[in-house]
Amino acid sequence: RLDKINIAIDGPAGAGKSTVARKVAKELTYVYVDTGAMYRAVTWFMLGHDISSDETDRVIHAMRELHIELIPGEECQQVIVNGEDVTDYIRANHISKNVSSYAKIGPLRTKLVEMQRNIASSKGVVMDGRDIGTHVLPQAELKIFLTASVEERAIRRYQEIKDNQQVTLEQLMHDIAERDRQDEQREISPLVCAEDAIRLDTTSMNIEEVVNQIISYCRTITDGAK
Ligand code: CDP
Ligand code: CDP
Repeated sequence: RLDKINIAIDGPAGAGKSTVARKVAKELTYVYVDTGAMYRAVTWFMLGHDISSDETDRVIHAMRELHIELIPGEECQQVIVNGEDVTDYIRANHISKNVSSYAKIGPLRTKLVEMQRNIASSKGVVMDGRDIGTHVLPQAELKIFLTASVEERAIRRYQEIKDNQQVTLEQLMHDIAERDRQDEQREISPLVCAEDAIRLDTTSMNIEEVVNQIISYCRTITDGAK
């Protein structure tokens, strides 16, 4: 019998990764780790210091001055950058638009991946991102690849921010498709479904259905193992 396993959840923007991963973690009393928040935190820091993603050397240099802490919480994971709580800032639209261009930089990824592997070393982690099953935790006992149509994913995001008149559904769909393209086409650890991942198309699934499906896969592994 396996006590605790690691669960990797990957997929494109708006597929439901963070919502689902958080609920799965709560149900299993595992730790939820949102790796996208780490790439967002780096992006927030670099933009704040006027370091563009084209200036690779400056980015790599600045990474040395950058300390990210993740504090797990029930409802959300707090993100602290050099002592400052940036949890709310990193969801802004200008961060979403820029994050993929920083996430291409190899040495930046190496540093974040190292942190992610450390967190997962004690097992009992639900980690979501783009390269968790393929690169960060290739030994994860359960790998899920969540997808949904780009229209559905844009609608989900739009509903989250519908009070905010600044962005149209069409713009969101365009931004999400562009981010998917950059994440899928980058050279290092691109967004791709791992060979041994279970692919779940959630276009017409609600959150509860997705969560229950993943918990049931997990129980098969933990209860089935000797
Ligand atoms: O929540 P959402 O799907 O919008 O994005 P996120 O998970 O916060 O990730 C933001 C961006 O960080 C992605 O579009 C990727 O460019 C990058 N990322 C990555 O490269 N690798 C990861 N493991 C997680 C995120
Ligand atoms: O983390 P990721 O970008 O993959 O997606 P998310 O931020 O967890 O989910 C985006 C939005 O879609 C959230 O508002 C979820 O409540 C919603 N959602 C949904 O309506 N149906 C699902 N099956 C999954 C997520």
